Amino acid sequence: MEFIDLKSQYQHGRAQIGERIRAVLDHGQYIMGPEVAELEARLADYTGARHCITVASGTEALVISLMALGIGPGDEVITTPFSFIATAEAIVLVGATPVFVDIDRATCNIAASLIEPAVTARTRAIMPVSLYGQPADMDEINAIARRHGLAVVEDAAQSFGATYRNRKSCNLSTIGCTSFFPSKPLGCYGDGGALFTSDDALAAAAREIRVHGQSRRYVHTRVGVGGRMDTLQCAVVLAKLEHFEWELAERAKVAARYNALLSGRLGLVGCNPNRSSVVAQYTVVLEERERVQAALQAAGIPTAVHYPVPIHVQPAYAHLADADSCPVALEMAKKVMSLPFGPYMPAADTDRVAATLLAAAGVTLPDAASCA
Ligand SMILES: Cc1ncc(COP(=O)(O)O)c(C=O)c1O
Repeated sequence: MEFIDLKSQYQHGRAQIGERIRAVLDHGQYIMGPEVAELEARLADYTGARHCITVASGTEALVISLMALGIGPGDEVITTPFSFIATAEAIVLVGATPVFVDIDRATCNIAASLIEPAVTARTRAIMPVSLYGQPADMDEINAIARRHGLAVVEDAAQSFGATYRNRKSCNLSTIGCTSFFPSKPLGCYGDGGALFTSDDALAAAAREIRVHGQSRRYVHTRVGVGGRMDTLQCAVVLAKLEHFEWELAERAKVAARYNALLSGRLGLVGCNPNRSSVVAQYTVVLEERERVQAALQAAGIPTAVHYPVPIHVQPAYAHLADADSCPVALEMAKKVMSLPFGPYMPAADTDRVAATLLAAAGVTLPDAASCA
């Protein structure tokens, strides 16, 4: 069993992916070819944001967003310690300081109620992460940002396609950033990402920063990066987009099946009302994680931990915060475990994972037929 089954996905979309790749090889415009603008138009339309700017990766989307906002040395950005390292890394890379705020135990997303007390005269932005595919409390976060004149950059690397009050993730704040890393809900076959905004000036800045700060050929009006997404990767995303809505529906079915088998028997990362998760990871909460993981591994079931060490205690970041400033993040880092998951997961596999997991965790086996 695969943790994320990209091979079945490829078989499903093989014809379109092949056609799209061949078209690029035929026209030969490998950088900024027509598929780049086509994808940007499709994704802007999908999210409802006025602008989509594709970039080299999700990390690059975060860095370029902060650069476009003019955030740098002396500035603070409030964020969560319970994320992939790239979230805080982007803040440090532009010379600003991440300020870590603890998470909500139920969703593992940033605790909105803890953000405002962390705002200082130096705060320039809030960077919530839509962890495991579920947007954070964006209304509350946007309201705090409005009160203090801050930008909100949603790290939506895991949540493309999710919704919050019927609006799409990536279009919930000043800027939204996503990743097309192959295992993401909408992935390419290499590195890729995009940022979304409805602010024309920020979009223009991000477009320039993506190409070395160039406003016209060889005219560099600002400092930028080499941050383009290549045409072949855009072509792959265009092909996968054809199946994306269907895949989201299948993801929801697999998650519902897991929920029916596990809910009330094991701790689960919950989904709050008024929003949907694309379930980038299906994550359970356990006391004896290592032992349960070993039992699943022995049964041929791969698992993963997102994330075993919160950012504020990582060696390169520990000087920025007290270890005990985010106790819930420390606790959840010891307890979370993600299960094999994806739109192509057969029901029999979901059932086997759930049954093996419950047995390993010492929970009575449910009736699998009850959620068929
Ligand atoms: C929450 C989060 N932020 C940022 C990133 C960085 O994305 P990428 O790997 O495309 O640079 C990832 C992906 O791995 C992520 O999960």
